[in-house]
Amino acid sequence: MERIEDHPVLQPEIRKTLNFYFDGKVCTALEGEAISSALTANGIKIFSYHKKDSSPQGIFCANGQCAQCSVIADGLTVKSCVTPVCEGMKVVTLRGAATLPKVSCAAEFGRVEELEVDALIIGGGPSGLAAAVELGKLNVNTLIIDDKDRFGGKLVLQTHRFFGSVEDCYAGTRGVEIAEKLGGQLKEYPSVKAWANACCLAVFSDKKVGVLRGGTYCLVRPKAVINATGAREKSLAFPGNTLPGVYGAGAFQTLVNRDLVRPAKKLFIVGGGNVGLIAAYHALQAGIQVVGLIEALPECGGYKVHADKIKRLGVPIYTRHTILRADGANGVETVTIAGVDAKFSPLPGTERTFKADTLLIAVGLNSVDEFHAQAREAGMDSFICGDAEEIAEASAAMFSGKITAHKVLKALGVMAAPVPQFWFDRLQVLKSRPGATGTPAAKAHAKLVYPVLHCCQEIPCNPCVTVCPKKSIKLAGDSIMDLPRFTGECIGCFKCLLICPGLAVTMVDYRKDAKNPSVALPFEIGRGLVKKGGRVRLTGWEGADLGSAEVLDVKDFKAENTLIVIVKASPETADLAAAVKLYPTEAGEKSAAELSKAEDETIICRCERVSLGEIRAAIRAGVRDLNQLKAVTRAGMGACGAKTCSSMLLNIFRSEGVDAKEITAFTRRPLFVEAPLGVFSDVKCRTEAEEKADWGGF
Ligand code: FES
Repeated sequence: MERIEDHPVLQPEIRKTLNFYFDGKVCTALEGEAISSALTANGIKIFSYHKKDSSPQGIFCANGQCAQCSVIADGLTVKSCVTPVCEGMKVVTLRGAATLPKVSCAAEFGRVEELEVDALIIGGGPSGLAAAVELGKLNVNTLIIDDKDRFGGKLVLQTHRFFGSVEDCYAGTRGVEIAEKLGGQLKEYPSVKAWANACCLAVFSDKKVGVLRGGTYCLVRPKAVINATGAREKSLAFPGNTLPGVYGAGAFQTLVNRDLVRPAKKLFIVGGGNVGLIAAYHALQAGIQVVGLIEALPECGGYKVHADKIKRLGVPIYTRHTILRADGANGVETVTIAGVDAKFSPLPGTERTFKADTLLIAVGLNSVDEFHAQAREAGMDSFICGDAEEIAEASAAMFSGKITAHKVLKALGVMAAPVPQFWFDRLQVLKSRPGATGTPAAKAHAKLVYPVLHCCQEIPCNPCVTVCPKKSIKLAGDSIMDLPRFTGECIGCFKCLLICPGLAVTMVDYRKDAKNPSVALPFEIGRGLVKKGGRVRLTGWEGADLGSAEVLDVKDFKAENTLIVIVKASPETADLAAAVKLYPTEAGEKSAAELSKAEDETIICRCERVSLGEIRAAIRAGVRDLNQLKAVTRAGMGACGAKTCSSMLLNIFRSEGVDAKEITAFTRRPLFVEAPLGVFSDVKCRTEAEEKADWGGF
C-alpha cells in the first residue's frame, strides 16, 4: 500500500477501512476517499485505455476538470477523482468509449427549488472564504459554494508556511491551518450558508445560477455574485505527456497532501515557478525523492527561498532546460531533458535521461473566469477575485477576497464608503513579483548568540519581524518587500527559525563553547531522518556542500511541526550553514540526440488524443476558427470541454505564425461540467437493473 503514515506535518485521519474491487481484485480504501486516491494507494496507475488508440491513461488533474481518470464504478462511467469509493464497489478499467447506462422510462418529474440570496460566492478557496467572512461580519445573506467536500481550495494542499504579512493574510501559518481558521470563522456568522459538494453548472441569461449539490439541482437568484473560482493548470506538449505517471502539480499535491497517498518513488518536475518549487518540497516531505527540476528561463520564477530550500536538500535545479520526452511502456519510466538556446530551442548534445516513475508539470495557471463572463453577459452585478481575476499567491487571493466583499457591500447598499485606496496598494504589494536579489548580509556579530538571516531576495514577507520578542529583527525599509536585518539582542528563543516560510533563518550560538559554536537549523522533512549523536551533511544557503557535522541535539517543536537540528560547527562554517542535505545529487545519463523524434505525434487534446501533427496540418490548410478545428480534428470536443487543450491550441496557432486577431474562439459551452440531463427537471429515472429487481428478476 502506498499510504503516507509518517508525514512531518499532516496526521492521517482515523477512518474506517472499506473493501472494493478493481478488475475483480480485492482492494482496500478509506471511507469517503476518492476512487482515484484509493487506486493510487493500491499501486494502480492505469485507469483506462483510450477509445482512439488504446493508450493507457491515469489520473492527470485530480480536480474534476479533465476526464482522464474515468473508470467504470458499479456500471457507471465516472471521473474517479470526484467519486467516493463505497464498500463493495466494483470498479473496472474503462476500455474504449464510455457508454451511458440503460435507463427505463422516467418515473416522475420533480420541482427545481429556487433560492434567493444577497450574495453568491462561487468557490470556497482563499479568496472566496475571505470574502464570505467579510460579508458575514455585516450580516449579509450569503451563500458560498464549493465543488469539493471541504472548503479551502488549494489551501488544503499547502503544508508550507505562507509568505505575506502577518496582519493581512496569516503569514507564517501553513496553508492547511489557514483553511481551518477561515472555515472556523465562517461558522461564527449565521447569515452565511456554506455548501460543500456543490458545483456551479452555469449562469443563465435570466440571472439565475444553476447549482448541482450532491445529486440535487437548484437555481440560485443572487443580487450579486462573486467569482472566486481559482485557476486551472496549463498543460504542456511533449512526446509521452499523456503517459500514466504524468501529473499536474495540483493533482500531485491532492494525492500527497490531501489524501496522504504516495504516487511516486522518484519524481521529476517541469517548472521552476512557486508551484513547481513548493511541489518539490511537498514531495520531499512525503518521502519521495525528487531527482531533478527544470526551468526554461535563466532563473526560476518562484521565490528564491523556495528554490534554495530544495537545493539545500539535494534537489538539482536545471535552468535553461526543457523536457524532450517521457518514456515508458505503461507509465513513466524515464524523463529526457535538454539545454535550450536563447529562443528556447533544444541544444543538440545536451540531452540527459533520468530514471523517474512520475513527472510533474507545473508550467503555470490559467484563470477560471467563465462564470464571471456568463454573469456579465446576463447583466448581473458580478465581481471577481483571487486567481480567477489574476494569478498570484494565496496571500494576495485572501486580501483580494476581502476587497471584493467590500465592493459587494457597496453595490448592495450596505456600506456607503468606497474601498480605501491603501487596501488596493497593499494588494499590489502582496501580488509583487520577487524583487532584487543580493547575497546574505555580512554577519560580523559580536554577540554570543544571534540569528543568521539567509533571506536575500525582496519578496512580500515579514513573519520574522513580527515574531521576535525583542523586536531585534527589522525590515531595511518601510515596505514588507524590504529585506530583514538583525540589529539588537537575541535570547535564542528559536521563534524566527520556526516561523520563517523559507526555512531561511538559522541560529549560531557560542554560549557553551567559544571555539566550536553550535548552529540550529529548522528541518521539517521527517522525524526519523536526523538523530542526536548522528552525523549530517551541511549545506550553504544555495546548496553548496559544507561537509559533515555532528548532531548535538534534535528539538521537536510539535505545535509547529518543525524540528530544530542543532549541529556542532566551526567558526568558519557556522554563519554559512543553512540546512541539512537529504539526498545526493543524481546526474542524468547522457542520451542519444533524438530531438525531432515524434514531435508531431505529441498529444495536444488528451480527451480525443489529437496530435500536434494533425492540428498543424489543419492550421496549414487554412483553419482559423477553433470550432472548425474541432469539427476537422475533434480537438476540443472531449469530455473536459477543451479546458485542458484550449490554451495549447492557441499556442500552436501562434507558433504557426497566425495572428491572434485571425482566430475565432470556441463557442462557450452552456455547462461548466458534465451533469445528468435529468437533474434539470429533478426527474427520477430507474435503471433497468432496478426495474428488474422490483419485478423479482422477471
Ligand atoms: S483535452 Fe479535453 S477536449 Fe481537448
